Parts: sequence; structure tokens; C-alpha cells
Amino acid sequence: MHIPKAELHLHIEGTLEPELAFALAGRNGVTLPFADTEELRTAYLFDDLQTFLDLYYALMAVLRTEEDFEDLANAYLTRAAAQGVRHAEIFFDPQAHTARGIPIGTVVEGLGRALDRSEETHGVSTQLIMCFLRDLSAESALETLEAAKPYLHRISGVGLDSAELGHPPAKFREAYEAAGALGLRKVAHAGEEGPPAYITEALDVLGAERIDHGLRCMEDPELVKRLAADRVPLTLCPLSNVRLRAIDILEEHPLRAMMDAGLLCTVNSDDPAYFGGYVGDTFHAVHEALGLDHEHLRTLARNSFDAAFLDHDEERRERYLSEVEAYVFD
Ligand code: HPA
Ligand code: ZN
Repeated sequence: MHIPKAELHLHIEGTLEPELAFALAGRNGVTLPFADTEELRTAYLFDDLQTFLDLYYALMAVLRTEEDFEDLANAYLTRAAAQGVRHAEIFFDPQAHTARGIPIGTVVEGLGRALDRSEETHGVSTQLIMCFLRDLSAESALETLEAAKPYLHRISGVGLDSAELGHPPAKFREAYEAAGALGLRKVAHAGEEGPPAYITEALDVLGAERIDHGLRCMEDPELVKRLAADRVPLTLCPLSNVRLRAIDILEEHPLRAMMDAGLLCTVNSDDPAYFGGYVGDTFHAVHEALGLDHEHLRTLARNSFDAAFLDHDEERRERYLSEVEAYVFD
């Protein structure tokens, strides 16, 4: 639970706990289609990625002001810090907000208010990664990148998320080229519900430096060899995979086999308010379900800092890595 770690796959909108959703709904005069937090929690039974996404986008209606985004980020950082997170690279979905008439500036500046104070308040260093919604058009992604230009000092990279099947990475070649030209880092969700070929495409066409999920690489032994040889980080989210039914039960998660295959695996929470746990809970769960011992957990923690976008601050990375080595399990 408490080993120092980086969280590299976390959608800030997916940290909206039912209690905060109702508080923000009250503050903003928004009516939610649920009687109370209990009823909302019972809606968290998903069949697949799409059933989750429908609820995830619907609940965003309560996020309207800079203060809302600040409160959301502070709530996440408080929980993350309590579970050993020392560094977080946080996704947000600008188009899910601009489509509702909330300007990207409100989102970025609101999140930024919390992130600016995060090291001091929570002891967590942070970065922001803006994700393109892959079920929207390539033009919309390019427009979003354009709209983000005044805020690039707050944004370190681009990602690709939302409904994967039928929306291959190559659709976003231009947007990623343009993002690269602006000096942004590149990650992409691939191989969560989509086939292994989407992982290859994310690497070769988009130039993705990390693959978010990447679970289905295990169906392609040549791809596994390539990912291992090139040390491509995979940001796995085991609790998400169970809740979205990518796998049946946690005991069947391939994390251990993936580590044994030499893949650079990290463990993350994805959308912790929806999937039953934050990243420390996830470490604990894989320890129990997969029999990962303390040295496996230390490797996962070490990997998280190795895979972090800390190239501009290697001193910090080394400091975090020494915290991992020095950690004594309780
Ligand atoms: N996959 C795709 N899109 C998402 C996810 C996810 O796990 N979480 C939030 N948006
Ligand atoms: Zn995700």
C-alpha cells in the first residue's frame, strides 16, 4: 500500500467519488439521475468499456468551474498521497468538457490550482497529460490541440482514450505529429479492448513512448519480444480490467506472466472512484490475488519511476528510486 510509487495511468475525471459528485451537483444546481450516493454506487456494475464510459461522461455534468476541477484534483491527491504516490502524471479529457460548453482554460487552470500546490500540500509532484477522445474525429483532436496552446506550460503530453474498438491509433497520426512538434510527450491507450495490432500502430504511427494498458500484447509473442527488448513501459490497470470485464477475475490477470516475460510493467488505478481502489489498493490486491512478493512489488514501484516523464529532472527520479530501495515492508 505505502511503498513510494508513481501513478502514470489515472484519469482525473475517474476520481470523482459519488460523495463529491453529489456535493458538486448541489453547488452547481445540477440534478443527477440518481437518488443518492448509494444508488449511484450500485450503477457501478459495468459490462464493458462502453457501459463505464456512458456513466463516466454523464457524471462530468457536475464539473463546471475552476473550483470544481481544483476540488477534484485535491481530493485525488489527498488519497494518492495516503497510498504512497510521490509522483502522478494525470490524464484529463478536454473534449468531454468543451463539448458541454466548459472552456479548456477552466479545466486546465482549475486543475493547475491544485497541482501548483501539490508538492507542498501533498508531497506529490505532478504532470498533466491531455487525452484525445478516439471516438471523436481527427479534426476535433487537432482543434483541441490548438485550443490547448495557451496552456502548454501546464501540459507535458498527449494521450488517446475512450472507446477503443473501431478507432485505431492511425486515425490520430496528424494530431500526434503536431503534438510532437510542440514538444509534447506521447502516450496512447492500446490493447485494452482493441487488438495487439493497435499497440504496434500506436508505437509505429503515433510514436507513443508508453502504452496505456497494453494488456492484449500477450496474444502476440513477437510483440511481447519487441516491447521487452525496447523497454516500452506498459501502464497496466488490473482492477479496471476486472471491472470492465477484460478479464474475469483478478487471479487470472497476466501481470505476473508479463513481468516474467521481461515487460516493463507498471500498476495503476485508471478510474479509481469507479473501479474499486486507488493505486495502493491495487498493489495490495495484486499482492493477494497473484501472490506477488515484496520484491515484485518493489520492481513495480521502481518501474513506475523508470517509466515516468522525469527526463528533465533525473535528480528527482534518483531520489524517488532511492526511496523505493530504502522502503521497508510492514
Ligand atoms: N479506457 C479508455 N478510456 C478511458 C478509460 C479507459 O480505461 N478511462 C477513462 N477513459
Ligand atoms: Zn485509462
